[in-house]
Amino acid sequence: MPSPVPPTQDAPRLAAPPALDPNADPLLVGLPKQRGYGQWIVSRMCDVRTVLTDPTTTVDMLTPKAMARFMSQQGVTLEQTMEIVRIVARAHRVPNDAERRDAIAITRLFQGTLQDLDMASALGAIASAEGRTVDVMADLLRPILGACRATALAIDPELGQRVEDGLLAIMLTVERHGPSDLAPVEPLARAVMQDLSILEKTRGKAREMPITHWIFPAFLALLPITYTSVSMLAHLAETPELQETLRARPELRPGYIREVERLMTSIRYGTRQIGATGLNLGDVWLPPRSLVVLDFSAANRDPALWQEPDTCLLDRPRQPTATFSLGPLACVGGQASRQFLSLLLDAVMQRVRVSLPQPGAEPDRLVTQWSITRGYRLCRLCLSTL
Ligand code: HEM
Repeated sequence: MPSPVPPTQDAPRLAAPPALDPNADPLLVGLPKQRGYGQWIVSRMCDVRTVLTDPTTTVDMLTPKAMARFMSQQGVTLEQTMEIVRIVARAHRVPNDAERRDAIAITRLFQGTLQDLDMASALGAIASAEGRTVDVMADLLRPILGACRATALAIDPELGQRVEDGLLAIMLTVERHGPSDLAPVEPLARAVMQDLSILEKTRGKAREMPITHWIFPAFLALLPITYTSVSMLAHLAETPELQETLRARPELRPGYIREVERLMTSIRYGTRQIGATGLNLGDVWLPPRSLVVLDFSAANRDPALWQEPDTCLLDRPRQPTATFSLGPLACVGGQASRQFLSLLLDAVMQRVRVSLPQPGAEPDRLVTQWSITRGYRLCRLCLSTL
């Protein structure tokens, strides 16, 4: 059995792991690396796959437990905060549990709305003949996806958007303050729980399931699909020749969507905990109970699988990516996401030309903030009707 790789100088064994920055961290594919005491990062596709599909690997992460212990030692109880953190961390989850079955049911409802989606009209309404600069996140994608959610679940769209924004604000505040000062999170968590209890009473669909089972599929799941959609539009604006090729040759669009999935993945990092006996990755042995960060974006550029991995090539052979994770707790929305991206691409091709705006006083782009997400939360592009 291979022995653990000795700690490297840039990740001393007892140092706290460095903060992750999915937008700035270099995309490096290599051997598993220790990044702090008991923590590792894996980036090769073979290692990502082994960690995610090993039956003893769990999402039983220590973070929510450490937070609960810390707060009880301090005599603090932040019940609403812990409830939400527990659900987002999924530390209680096992394969094929009721939460997953409910997530699949919600995802089907969401996917069912896509066939009636008129994205061409939505694009036409915000574009103009001479070109109009808009924030494609706020002016296009959030309203479209929010409307899909509202139709799928028969809920008030504004309330749905408020819950999504509230959940993201909670995660950002938890990250900013850390477990030693979670008091600022509690009012945010209370507001989200209050909105969820209104939704519980007023929702028109999926009334039989606990409302907390909506947190992933109805709210957090719409963030990565908006970010990837925005990255695709930005990429089309940056590559006008490619945009015109795709407009003229629809048969190339499926290959482009596969490259969007591979290169513009918006959940860069996932996490898992290794089981009681450790895990052999061939070159490296991960000790029992190690926490492992999985770099999905790097794995999608693994040169062992993709030649010229950083280049967008439309005629690559089909290969599974790490974008939607793998194994028993992987994303249930891969198909819905691909369908949404294809519909968006077709609507753009049919209705508008996307280009980069004239530089203004304000920044045209702002990157995402949550330490697992990659892409833009604001992105101004110029849309001209065809
Ligand atoms: C480009 C868009 C998307 C990306 C990149 C993405 C990626 C991911 C990733 C990486 C995970 C974590 C899986 C793990 O820890 O193994 C996840 C979980 C999940 N995703 Fe997605 N996702 C996307 C869109 C969606 C959509 C549209 C839905 C449903 C409407 C969805 C529903 C879920 C659910 C329910 C989970 C939690 C599954 C569970 O805990 O059992 N996702 N997603």
